[in-house]
Amino acid sequence: MVIPDEKIEEIARVIAKSSNLVAFSGAGVSAESEIPTFRDPGGLWDRYDPSQIATTGGLSSLAASRPNIVRQFLQEMLETFEKARPNPGHFALAELEKMGILRSVITQNIDNLHREAGNSYVIEVHGNIYRLRCMGCGEKYMRSREDFSRLLREFLSTPEDSGLADLISHLPKCEKCGNITRPDVVMFGEPVQDFDLAATGARNCDVMLVLGTSGVVYPAASVPVQAKQSGAEIIDINPTQSTFHNIADYIIIEKTGVALPIIVKRVKDIM
Ligand code: OAD
Ligand code: ZN
Repeated sequence: MVIPDEKIEEIARVIAKSSNLVAFSGAGVSAESEIPTFRDPGGLWDRYDPSQIATTGGLSSLAASRPNIVRQFLQEMLETFEKARPNPGHFALAELEKMGILRSVITQNIDNLHREAGNSYVIEVHGNIYRLRCMGCGEKYMRSREDFSRLLREFLSTPEDSGLADLISHLPKCEKCGNITRPDVVMFGEPVQDFDLAATGARNCDVMLVLGTSGVVYPAASVPVQAKQSGAEIIDINPTQSTFHNIADYIIIEKTGVALPIIVKRVKDIM
C-alpha cells in the first residue's frame, strides 16, 4: 500500500513540532523481525491456548500433563528469539530519540528489540524475556541473548518428561538471597510493570504514536486512551483496523517497518 505524500507530510509536521512525543508499541512492531504476533491469523494464540501457556497455573498443569506442548512452545521461542533483530521500524524510533523528539517508548513487547535498536528510555509493561527476577527478594538480572539461548537449550536437552521445576532449576539463583529466579515477564493475571511510569508518560505527552497493537489487553491498552484524555494527538499505524481508530487523529494503514522510516525521513527534512 502506498501512503499518500500529503499524509506523510501532515504527520511528519505534527511529529516535528511535538515537544513531548511518546510511542506505545505492541507485537506488530516486531512482526517484521519475524516474531509472530498473538492475535493475527496464524498468531501465537491460534496455536497455543493463552489460558494454558500464559498463566502460571495453566503452565504448571500443562507442564505436568502434556510437557511436550511446553517443550514445543519453548523450542519455538528459542528459534524465534535467537534470530530476531530490530527492524527498520525499531531503528526509526531510535532515530527519533537521537533527534531529541521521542521521549520514551512504552511497550507491551518482551523482546528487548527497542533497546537493541538504540532507544534508551523503554517502559516494558509486560516485562523482558531476557531478564530474570528473584522470587524471594525481587532483585532483577538482565541476561544476554546468548545466556538466554544457552539456558533454554540446556533445558530442552533434559529428559522429555522434565517439568517446570526442572526448567526453573536451570536458571541461576539470586546473587543476593540465593532464592530461585524466573523469567521477568508478565503472565495473564499478574500485575503489569512500571505502569505508573507508563501512565505518567501518557498523561504528559502531546503526541502519541500507537504502533502495531490490537489494544485488547488491559491495563496496557488504556495507555493511548489516557494520552488522548490528557489532550495528546494520537497517530495510529497498523496494517489493519485498530481498536484505537476511534480515538486516533491520524491513521496510517501500513506496517510500522514500512511507514516509520518514511515518516522519520520526512521529519528530518523538515527539522
Ligand atoms: P496482538 O497480536 O493482539 O496485535 C498485533 C497487532 O499488530 C494487530 O493489530 C496487527 O494488525 C498488527 N500488526 C501485524 N503486523 C504488523 C506490522 N508489520 N506492523 C505494524 N502492525 C502490525 O498483539 P498486542 O496488541 O501486542 O500480553 O497484544 C497485547 C498483549 O497480548 C501482549 O503483550 C501479550 C498478549 O497476550 C501478555 O501475554 C500479557
Ligand atoms: Zn533474591
